[in-house]
Parts: sequence; structure tokens; C-alpha cells
Amino acid sequence: MKLVLLGPPGAGKGTQAAMLVAEFDIPQISTGDMLRAAVRDQSPMGIKAKEYMDAGGLVPDAVVVGIVCERLQQADCQGGFILDGFPRTVQQADALKQTLSDMNMQLDSVISLEVNTESLVERLIGRRTCGTCGKGFHLKFDPPGSDGRCSVCGGELVHRDDDQEATIRNRMDVYHQQTAPLEDYYRQDGLLQAINGMDEIVTVQQKIVSALQAG
Ligand code: AP5
Ligand code: MG
Repeated sequence: MKLVLLGPPGAGKGTQAAMLVAEFDIPQISTGDMLRAAVRDQSPMGIKAKEYMDAGGLVPDAVVVGIVCERLQQADCQGGFILDGFPRTVQQADALKQTLSDMNMQLDSVISLEVNTESLVERLIGRRTCGTCGKGFHLKFDPPGSDGRCSVCGGELVHRDDDQEATIRNRMDVYHQQTAPLEDYYRQDGLLQAINGMDEIVTVQQKIVSALQAG
């Protein structure tokens, strides 16, 4: 299964990708997670990327395309992958198409998660992520353990730097301007499957799996 998860900030891409990893036994490739790891490591790329991420803008296409293309060459992607947060521009989508074609591969599906703006803001403001294992939570919709720590590994939960309301609104604007055109791009390719992301997490998961099985 070679899959793209498309959707605005807070739509549930990361949450659903983690569940699909278990369902299909293929890796999640999250450009956001890869960039945050580079920021934490203070690599030259991470230091540069942080400026864009803190402002809620997009990291330049060439940087992101480079890290995804390198990742796709790794052996664990041969049987499929879940792209979470990539592509985000038409240029990135064109580069992905070319890279996959060079590898004699093509996408099977692009799942677009649809959620209204006010719910997105509520989800991001209440999101917490384990600083140790990366598991995502929501204070109201997917609460952590009663001690306020990660229910999987006991790690401390963190609130993402870009989950402040002003930055969230910028990220939404950037999504509408630069990423939403990909819905038409993939509709024209016959790959787009729109899913109502407003349901509960498990229900959204079931709908995605059904859509993928239906082809
Ligand atoms: P990235 O990390 O990809 O952030 P994003 O796209 O803004 O998306 P989020 O991770 O915020 O949301 P999500 O859809 O994963 O939602 P989640 O499952 O966590 O990118 C961050 C930055 O990196 C970008 O701004 C950019 O600067 C840079 N970047 C990344 N990729 C790039 C690229 N390709 N090109 C250029 N720059 C790039 O869910 C959110 C919350 O809601 C959680 O708390 C969850 O528990 C809860 N939740 C999930 N589903 C439900 C549900 N059904 N009901 C109720 N609550 C739910
Ligand atoms: Mg995410």
C-alpha cells in the first residue's frame, strides 16, 4: 500500500498514520516528525527549517523533497509506505511522481481528511505528544494516563511550539493557499478518496481501511 495522507493541520494525519502502520505493517514517513528531529539535533538543516516551522510556513521544497526521496530508497519502503504531511505543494507532488516512477512505483491512494476549521484549532490547542516515544494524545479527545504522562512509556508530554493559536492560523492559511490545490491534482489522477475526519478517531480509521479495501 503506497499512500498519501492529505489534510490541514490537526486533521488527524499523524493519528491515523500510526494506526495504519499497525494495520498494514508499512512505515510512516512524516516530514514534520523528520524536520522536528533535525531541529532537536540542531543539524544545519534543522536550524534553517526551524525558522519556517516557528512561523507556520513551509520549509523550501528542495529540502523536503531531498529528505523524502532519500527515505523512500530505504528497503523498508519497498512494500509500501504512508506519507504524512508530504507532498504539500504541486512542486513536491510532481517530484514525488517522478521519484516513484524512477523506482517503478506509483501511489495507490491519496486519503484526504476533511475537518472544519474550529475543530482543527481545538484539536491542536489540546494536542500533547510524548517527548520520549512520540505517541500523540489530546487532553479531551484522546487523554493520556491519569498522571498526565504517556500511557505507553510514561514519558513527559509536550505541547508543540507551533501549536499556539496565531501560528495555527498561519498554518491553516498556508494549507489553503499551497496544499489544498493538491486535492484537485490527485482527483484528476483518479487517486483522491475524501474521508469525513470529524468522526471519532476509531471510526475515521475504519472508514479509511474500508476506502482502501474498496480501492
Ligand atoms: P506537520 O508536523 O506535518 O504538521 P501539520 O501538517 O500542520 O499537521 P499536524 O501534525 O499539526 O496535524 P495532524 O493532521 O498530524 O493531526 P494529529 O493526528 O496530530 O508539519 C509541521 C511543520 O513542518 C509545517 O508547518 C512546515 O513548517 C514543516 N513541514 C512539514 N512537512 C512539510 C512539507 N512537506 N513541506 C514543507 N514544510 C513542511 O491530530 C491532532 C490532534 O487531534 C491530536 O491531539 C489528536 O489526538 C486529535 N485527533 C486526531 N483525530 C481526531 C478525531 N477524529 N477526533 C478528535 N480528535 C482527534
Ligand atoms: Mg502530524
